[in-house]
Amino acid sequence: MLNPLAWFDRGAPKIELRRFAGAASHQELLGAPICVAHLTDLHVGRVTPVPIQMAAVDLVNRQDPDLVVITGDFVCHSQEYLDALTEVIEAFDAPVIGVLGNHDHWSGASEVRRALRRGGAEVLDNANTIITLGHERLQLVGLDDAYTGHADIARAIKGLRRDVATLGLSHIAEEAERLWPQGVPLVLSGHTHAGQVTLARLNELALGRFVGHRYIHGLYGSREEPPPHGAVYVGAGIGAAVIPLRLGERARREVTLFELGYHPGAFDEHHNPQEALPGRPPSERTVQERQLAVARKQARRERRTKKG
Ligand SMILES: [Fe+2]
Repeated sequence: MLNPLAWFDRGAPKIELRRFAGAASHQELLGAPICVAHLTDLHVGRVTPVPIQMAAVDLVNRQDPDLVVITGDFVCHSQEYLDALTEVIEAFDAPVIGVLGNHDHWSGASEVRRALRRGGAEVLDNANTIITLGHERLQLVGLDDAYTGHADIARAIKGLRRDVATLGLSHIAEEAERLWPQGVPLVLSGHTHAGQVTLARLNELALGRFVGHRYIHGLYGSREEPPPHGAVYVGAGIGAAVIPLRLGERARREVTLFELGYHPGAFDEHHNPQEALPGRPPSERTVQERQLAVARKQARRERRTKKG
């Protein structure tokens, strides 16, 4: 049964296409540009009808990127739509690489990983890899979800090379600050949905002041300064987990193209890099509670499976 809230998602979905240059170091290390399409928070499930994710896939395919990266929250509270998720991933023309988000851990990380791999995606769980696109090599560092306490930077950067153009993926944007000093100049992320309501900067009030995020939506930091500096991009996402309402230009569903190999400023971008908010990291207790929540949900699923 479709969630009654999906009423908000009637009609043709409006998906913004935004375009940014990569970091200066990408230009230094690449012989030819690489186009990376970034999506996040697909939330395939009851709240966001599958035609919306398929419209995003179609928009991406029409841009003909070299690579698609997706930064977590593939599902929405359940495993009921894993076959649909596999179909969505399969529909991308370019290779797909992703990292998991909190919803994936809440719903069952192993099952979500399996669905993604069935669709042909590579999942980076605190790992890095070098892929060849045309004649160019790109190194990707993928952090597992930090919200639920699964991020392990030391593992993720093991064997990382400084002489290959590198892109970081992390569901939670604040983790970028720990990747920059390791030579990861640009990190793509999600999770916030840009706050979904960006009118009168309500999103900054809610996610910045109350939730404690430093990065709400869009580009922050420096793409030109060497480590320990760096940049992070927070995508507005495609789906929703609770209410699909999105108000304000910055809150719209979004596909973002990163043209690695172009110097920042080489072409017009949607907005200039922004200042980080003060933020407030979660307490040790909060992180522990979030880890326990994942274990509780897993135990509940196992009890249900036994009963059924
Ligand atoms: Fe999330």
